[in-house]
Amino acid sequence: MPSLESIRKAPRADGLASILAIGRANPENFMEQSNFPDFFFRVTGSDHLVDLKKKFQRICDRTAIRKRHFVWNEEFIKANPCFSTFMDNSLNVRQEVAIREIPKLGAEAATKAIKEWGQPKSSITHLIFCTTSGMDLPGADYQLTRILGLNPNVERVMLYQQGCFAGGTTLRLAKCLAESRKGARVLIVCAETTTVLFRAPSEEHQEDLVTQALFADGASAVIVGADPNEDANERASFVIFSTSQVLLPDSEGAIGGHVSEGGLLATLHRDVPQLVSKNVEKCLEEAFTPLGISDWNSIFWVPHPGGRAILDQIEERVGLKPEKLTTSRHVLAEYGNMSSVCVHFVLDEMRKKSSKEGKATTGEGLEWGVLFGFGPGLTVETVVLRSVPL
Ligand code: CAA
Repeated sequence: MPSLESIRKAPRADGLASILAIGRANPENFMEQSNFPDFFFRVTGSDHLVDLKKKFQRICDRTAIRKRHFVWNEEFIKANPCFSTFMDNSLNVRQEVAIREIPKLGAEAATKAIKEWGQPKSSITHLIFCTTSGMDLPGADYQLTRILGLNPNVERVMLYQQGCFAGGTTLRLAKCLAESRKGARVLIVCAETTTVLFRAPSEEHQEDLVTQALFADGASAVIVGADPNEDANERASFVIFSTSQVLLPDSEGAIGGHVSEGGLLATLHRDVPQLVSKNVEKCLEEAFTPLGISDWNSIFWVPHPGGRAILDQIEERVGLKPEKLTTSRHVLAEYGNMSSVCVHFVLDEMRKKSSKEGKATTGEGLEWGVLFGFGPGLTVETVVLRSVPL
């Protein structure tokens, strides 16, 4: 048995936590956004709602999304008529699909991250699993541990129902865990599916059309650890320098989600883009003043692409050059809003693009960067990142 003294003095990591690998996955089935209004109204038997369909078409056209991936398909919707109603009882079937698919999608992303990392999976000491899709006991963290064959003593944290800011939350928690114990290696897995919220359009509830036009399915996995073992070829792609979470003033109820027998019904107020953009500068000032940075075009940007209008209004309010948000816009266009998963996709795209374009660092040639998670509350997660030389 270790002595109390040795437990108390167990060494912490020397350095800051870094991102050591990123993996991602999407279901094979995808739909082009330009075809989605026709599909959505046809498959839910709603073609007679001509004006509503035109409105949905206008919303889809304005999303700047090109395609979205889904675990479900037309056959599934037809086989489950409750999905072609607005709010009929459907929770059982939604739960069944999410509980089955979320660990699988997460495992696919995690397998890719572990491959890139190149270390034995027995070296994973902690697992953080995050999803807003489905709930179960034991949870998706348990299922993933079994699918991947992780150590039974891996220390698990399961985050259910956090929403879109949680890609940042997982990095904040992983940093704490990785720095608190020498040799800790934290596997983060985020996985999301629209199975919990797909439903037919309703004239009485037109606000749900935005939800139907934005969200998509996908999974990300990130391995976080301090003091990379270069002898074992362990390499950092970003250092997690600092993290914080804040509730925005006067934003109560702006983004929310309620689970009922009809599934997850999201609330997205029209003023979300304005509320987020209005408060972003204060978050930047608090995070970057200690570093002496106040030029927001001198850092790289990894904001959650929650919607085109959010990115547009941040760009305008902060006075960003258009190229600053290109990577976030790319993820939105190619995958839609995958909630907690999105920011990890943006990070992955950024380091790959930086390498392909011969930039000096993983962060578009720049040293410092910011990752923002936005979601229910309104909550903002701010993560300050330091790139590494390429
Ligand atoms: N609720 C209901 N209707 C809305 C709406 C909203 N939040 N925003 C726009 N609309 C309607 C407009 O009234 C308009 O309808 P009509 O054509 O009938 O007049 C239609 O959508 C199109 O609006 P605009 O022409 O003004 O287009 P736009 O430039 O505003 O683009 C949009 C539409 C793509 C939805 C854009 O407003 C947008 O990106 N909004 C942000 C979406 C958002 O809130 N994302 C956050 C998602 S939540 C998240 O990421 C975190 C989480 O935890 C869930």
